[in-house]
Amino acid sequence: MCGIVGAVAERNVAAILIEGLKRLEYRGYDSAGLAVIENGQIIRERRTGKVRELELAAQAAKVYGHVGIAHTRWATHGAPTEDNAHPHVSGDVAVVHNGIIENYEELRHELTAQGYVFVSQTDTEVVAHLVHRELQKAPDLLAAVQAAVPYLAGAYALGIILATEPKRLIAVRQGSPLVLGLGIGENFIGSDQLALLPVTNRFIYLDEGDIIDLGREHYTIYDRQGQAVQRSAIELDAQLHHSDKGTYRHYMLKEIYEQPQAIQRTLEDRIQANHRIQPHAFGTQAPDIFEKIKHIQIIACGTSYHAGYVARYWFESIAGISCNVEVASEYRYRQSVLPENTLFVTISQSGETADTLAALREAKKKGIFASLCICNVPTSTLVRESDLAFITHAGPEIGVASTKAFTTQLVALMLLVVSVAKVRGLELAREQQIVQQLQSLPVILDSVLAMDKAIERIAEEFGEKHHTLFLGRGAHYPVAMEGALKLKEISYIHAEAYPAGELKHGPLALVDHDMPVVAVAPNNDLIDKLKSNLQEVRARAGELYVFADSKVHITPEIGLKVFAMPSVSDDIAPIVYTVPLQLLSYHVAVIRGTDVDQPRNLAKSVTVE
Ligand code: G6P
Repeated sequence: MCGIVGAVAERNVAAILIEGLKRLEYRGYDSAGLAVIENGQIIRERRTGKVRELELAAQAAKVYGHVGIAHTRWATHGAPTEDNAHPHVSGDVAVVHNGIIENYEELRHELTAQGYVFVSQTDTEVVAHLVHRELQKAPDLLAAVQAAVPYLAGAYALGIILATEPKRLIAVRQGSPLVLGLGIGENFIGSDQLALLPVTNRFIYLDEGDIIDLGREHYTIYDRQGQAVQRSAIELDAQLHHSDKGTYRHYMLKEIYEQPQAIQRTLEDRIQANHRIQPHAFGTQAPDIFEKIKHIQIIACGTSYHAGYVARYWFESIAGISCNVEVASEYRYRQSVLPENTLFVTISQSGETADTLAALREAKKKGIFASLCICNVPTSTLVRESDLAFITHAGPEIGVASTKAFTTQLVALMLLVVSVAKVRGLELAREQQIVQQLQSLPVILDSVLAMDKAIERIAEEFGEKHHTLFLGRGAHYPVAMEGALKLKEISYIHAEAYPAGELKHGPLALVDHDMPVVAVAPNNDLIDKLKSNLQEVRARAGELYVFADSKVHITPEIGLKVFAMPSVSDDIAPIVYTVPLQLLSYHVAVIRGTDVDQPRNLAKSVTVE
């Protein structure tokens, strides 16, 4: 999704801006641009495609300035063209923007009537013209931005510069993430702190409605009432946030391989020596809240939604508490009824997904009992706005297709399920049994990762296919959904997941020798039913690829490939069976030559509706 970087410094900021944009590339984008001030003029470069194109253009043009703003754009209003790329300019004003200005049509109309000429189809251009218009009334950039902001409806983060102010940058945070980075004699803004880690590790996380007046040596933050306010700075351990591909060909592969360590980090400090969960693993108020809850509502998007879907089975079977799960974009606009004493659980890798945040805010308006979020980013908006938070500690996830974030979410969710189950009478021995199983995951996942070469070999067989079906039953149905999502995201092969019992109610009609069918077959109560479903596929000449518990006897034959999985308990099987499906998608995508880490049209963090 769109990214913002801005800098005010003694040195030339062009390289800082480009490096910052490169660090945001993983979020997904289709064009990029930057603007600096040189000799009282806005110098702007924009390119479609990769940041590298912009870098080459900036180098060729010898872009130089002590203040600048830069942007990666993920098209919402208007095609991904150079004209629509940011920064947008109105006279001496240049603007970069993340988010959406919802009333842009109305403003465009009004500004056009006042003589402004629009050269792009974006909603952002209205901001540039608005600030320009307000500058004519109050010739001070801060005052003009403060006067322009009340006209804007929607969610946005802005970076704004003025040609006559070569040492000043104004930034606004209203509903879209923006951080302030503090350097020595230089200051920065970024839509994600990752963008600024090469230049600082001191950050201020802004509140909604904040406007910052930024210079080299100083900054002032004004709240939405226009009062100057102090916000505390946080120092990040840059080492922890360091991320490069190492020896891996793609971030996604590296992140798949990082799962054993990531899970270990998720468990660290949450487990006591006697294999019990720390009572305060979900915060000091958690035990009191868990005592009173009667229902769980889980809300999330994408991969995080699949994690919630798995947890629904666990909540009901292990904790005996009713649980609903829904995608945030549906929930937020539905007239839903929340049962009394509902724990509202949001799941999000980034903690900035617009729909998930909006669903939480909607639910709060309705008056929820308590909210809890499971998130990978401790400084995110979702964490700040939830009553309880659990940080997964997966480490930065750069590949757009989520992998380690998912499996660590599942671990976090199982800890939550057991914590809730404890207050509802779960036996000590059962708690310890589940915890020990979670603790064994790093070793088990290492053995699954050892299947990589075998999976890579069969991936060849998917290279020319157009459709794939994924099957699972029970808690493995969402595992199949996640497998299908991974494959379509990165290989662009159409993939659908079905609960295997539904096969004969429709999808069986599609099955023929050209349609690979992937199934996950753990050793549980449903295995015999699943085997019958697989027979239904074989009888129609469907090509089956089955990841099966080594104790389940499924004999390979022509058209039926079986991958022996370690024999694990049903509690942790959804986590274990996720991994081979990630590897399969990865290798299929590599064979098809797609952009694995930044698949077309997708974004890592979807901060617009
Ligand atoms: C985007 C990403 C997915 C992610 C989803 C939810 O679609 O491409 O990988 O699962 O957003 O993101 P979140 O940060 O809320 O987990």
